Amino acid sequence: MNKITPTSTPGEARCPAQSTQDIIAKDKVGAPDWVRSESYEYMGSEDIPTERYIDPAYAKAEYERLWTRTWQFACREEHIPEVGDYHVYDLGPYSFIITRVGENDIRAYFNACLHRGTKLRASNTEGRASEFQCSFHGWSWNIDGTNKSITCPWDFPHVDAAKLNLPEARVETLGGFVWINMDKDAPTLAEYLGPEALAHMTAWKLENRYIALHVQKRIPANWKLTIEAFQEAYHVIITHPQVAVSNADANSQYDVYGEHVDRFISPLGVLSPHLEGKYNEQDILDQFTVGDAGVLEGNRLEVGNSTARQVMADMFRGMFEKSANTDLSDVSDSEMLDCFSYTIFPNTFLFPGISLPMVYRFRPDPKDHRGCIYEVMFLRPAPKDGERPTPAEPIILEQDQSFKEAEGMDPGFGAILDQDTDNLFLQQEGLEASAKHGLTLGNYQEIRIRHFEKAVDKYLAMPPKKP
Ligand code: FES
Ligand SMILES: [Fe+2]
Repeated sequence: MNKITPTSTPGEARCPAQSTQDIIAKDKVGAPDWVRSESYEYMGSEDIPTERYIDPAYAKAEYERLWTRTWQFACREEHIPEVGDYHVYDLGPYSFIITRVGENDIRAYFNACLHRGTKLRASNTEGRASEFQCSFHGWSWNIDGTNKSITCPWDFPHVDAAKLNLPEARVETLGGFVWINMDKDAPTLAEYLGPEALAHMTAWKLENRYIALHVQKRIPANWKLTIEAFQEAYHVIITHPQVAVSNADANSQYDVYGEHVDRFISPLGVLSPHLEGKYNEQDILDQFTVGDAGVLEGNRLEVGNSTARQVMADMFRGMFEKSANTDLSDVSDSEMLDCFSYTIFPNTFLFPGISLPMVYRFRPDPKDHRGCIYEVMFLRPAPKDGERPTPAEPIILEQDQSFKEAEGMDPGFGAILDQDTDNLFLQQEGLEASAKHGLTLGNYQEIRIRHFEKAVDKYLAMPPKKP
């Protein structure tokens, strides 16, 4: 593990252990091309300047330049299944009423009355509406955004009600997610993702999932610092030593796709290269900790002549086929088992795999650039027949609460989330205390962070754009 592969080209070195692709190549049920391919790109080795995480002026510039131009995950379609259903999505100072106006027509209204500006619906609310009436003087709008009434219209001869539509952000749906963009000139979501990443998103069929558990917590660290804590497996051996026995960490694979999407594949059911020679296959199986370890209860198996990884894949397939009443024989072992994570710039972080099905969302704390709102949503497969389950209500944790305290959270996974987030205030404070004014990144394992910050740079180089 400590030998260094000689290389003259930066970005070419890899962990000398077997690669993610070597591991996946040995699986019984083979993986599709988009799993069996790599898309790493070297993007330089310069430090990332610290000010972006600690300077409030930077956060202000992000609100004016970045958040007003990018595609954001606002809610899931199952939050608004019926015509008239709405869900308020807030991002910093911005707020939108995401409303279903027709079976295939979802709108995102800027959440402000066109009289004297009152929010038409309070933040963090949802419900079903036949109109949006302002609570101040009663001006009201139909759910299609056209004006319904102005109180005392005789006093507003200068206002043309026929033109008084609620302003809208753009809306697209993909994978069961509702995405919004405040920029009328932005590329389409498909263009924004690029063809390769779009193909991945489509292949995961996330429209067939629903939110089974939703936990939200304010983290005392900048939103970018927080999302970047999840973009590499480099920290696993130190931050989560309990999972390293069954997790390929240093040999995880990192990919970038265009400007807005990146991913890693972290194979599970194999030993960390850091622990080579210290554990056998049975140990790996015995210590297997996956995000949702609850499914393993009562399922201890012997490795026998197989590998821990194969035993795990077979077992997961059997369990998920049974619980979802479905046939997963053509789903590869890798998709079944491994930790796939994707960033969709800027606020979405997907774990679409079957053993660890989640989406995280990261939004800046509107009142404090040193804080962010972090959400964890478990995306379970919706049953094939019958009613689609309603999405879980968010459980909002206090800053000093453990993720383990959220009802329905697997305690082992709650502990992992605590480990991830407990480092963050130390990092935020350390960056502010540091005499070194940049963050140094590994060329390979931390490429997603560099890729993410490059996208930040791209938007911040643009002029401010008012929605
Ligand atoms: S502010 Fe909305 S009706 Fe007056
Ligand atoms: Fe972690």
